[in-house]
Amino acid sequence: MSSDEPFLPFARPTISEEAIAEVADCLRSGWITTGPRTAAFEMDMKTYFDAPHALAFSSATAGLYVALKAIGLQPGDEVITTAMTFAATLNVIVLAGGIPIMVDVDPRNYNICVEDIESKITPRTKAIMPVHFAGFPVDLDPIYALAKQHNLRVIEDSAHAIGNHYKGRKLGSFGDIQVFSFHPNKNMTTGEGGGLVTRDDDVANAAERQRFHGMDRMAWNRFSKAGSQHYEIVEPAHKFNMMDIQSALGLHQLRAVDGFNEKRTQLAGQYFEALKDFEPLLLPQFPTKYDFTHAWHLFSPRVNEKVTSLSRDEVMQALKEENIGTGLHYRAPHLYPYYRKTFGYKPGDCPKAEAVGESIFSLPLFPTLTQNEFDRVICALKKVFKNA
Ligand SMILES: Cc1ncc(COP(=O)(O)O)c(C=O)c1O
Repeated sequence: MSSDEPFLPFARPTISEEAIAEVADCLRSGWITTGPRTAAFEMDMKTYFDAPHALAFSSATAGLYVALKAIGLQPGDEVITTAMTFAATLNVIVLAGGIPIMVDVDPRNYNICVEDIESKITPRTKAIMPVHFAGFPVDLDPIYALAKQHNLRVIEDSAHAIGNHYKGRKLGSFGDIQVFSFHPNKNMTTGEGGGLVTRDDDVANAAERQRFHGMDRMAWNRFSKAGSQHYEIVEPAHKFNMMDIQSALGLHQLRAVDGFNEKRTQLAGQYFEALKDFEPLLLPQFPTKYDFTHAWHLFSPRVNEKVTSLSRDEVMQALKEENIGTGLHYRAPHLYPYYRKTFGYKPGDCPKAEAVGESIFSLPLFPTLTQNEFDRVICALKKVFKNA
């Protein structure tokens, strides 16, 4: 029998009245595309990340693609990445002309096995693209050491990872290039959007051109009193800019994100406590040698096939019937038909990621999740596995 309570989504953005008013002000202002609010949002990102360059994009996918173009990826270059991520991580490598080289993951926390990276480096390797899965920082020091040794770039897919720390330093405040996502189910949102952070002037300049038609000057400068009507096209490029309507939201979300993360961390703690002896689920584990804070973008357990005959898909379906939404993050992306057909990937290439991809799912986690909603999730989980 299904729950009488309303459907509980697995993610829900938290948007203040001040942010809504700022969006309305922007709409009334006469300037709704990239302009002063995006410039202010980028300034705030620079301060937040303590970085010399922060560029707003229409999505993290666009930011990652542009990062690969900005480091000069050439057709046939290889980019080493993780076998447990959203398809965007692989897609952008291919769209930028590269070949994604997959590395298996730690099945306890779904991050790339750093010790397996070196064996994948070849003369064609151009970059390493780790993903901080769910907001748990990858062990970056050995990755940057490898990159230095082999003259590689590092593009951190930080889509899940705004506001977390590795060895006491905020992600984005050090390293090569980081790209954050502001999609509505992420820790902060601009509707759709992404932010690229770098300390490299050449990458920042190339990324700026690649973001907007290959122009040497942004449109809003051209139309302002101080600007010139002229521009040059120095290379053909896409149109991946963020609108001021989005940045109006971003200005407020960025100020709030550390508070959102505190609430997410508290809720993750509640999940660990409520499910610590619950055998049908394997909870994430972090047996690391380094200090970190976790952004808790996702709380993603695995179905423990040793104690239940229910498949992950059956668990998600049964929870849906209890009016509890869940997310599927992720099936192992190298097994999607395109990647099998084009690069010859097959089952068994990354067995740990494949096992994770068959058993993982994400429970509701967002800052405004109430105690009643949290209790409903736990009750529904217990009911689903008891009924099985
Ligand atoms: C790991 C990862 N990388 C990249 C992306 C792409 O982000 P966006 O939706 O902002 O393009 C996502 C989105 O979910 C993601 O989870």
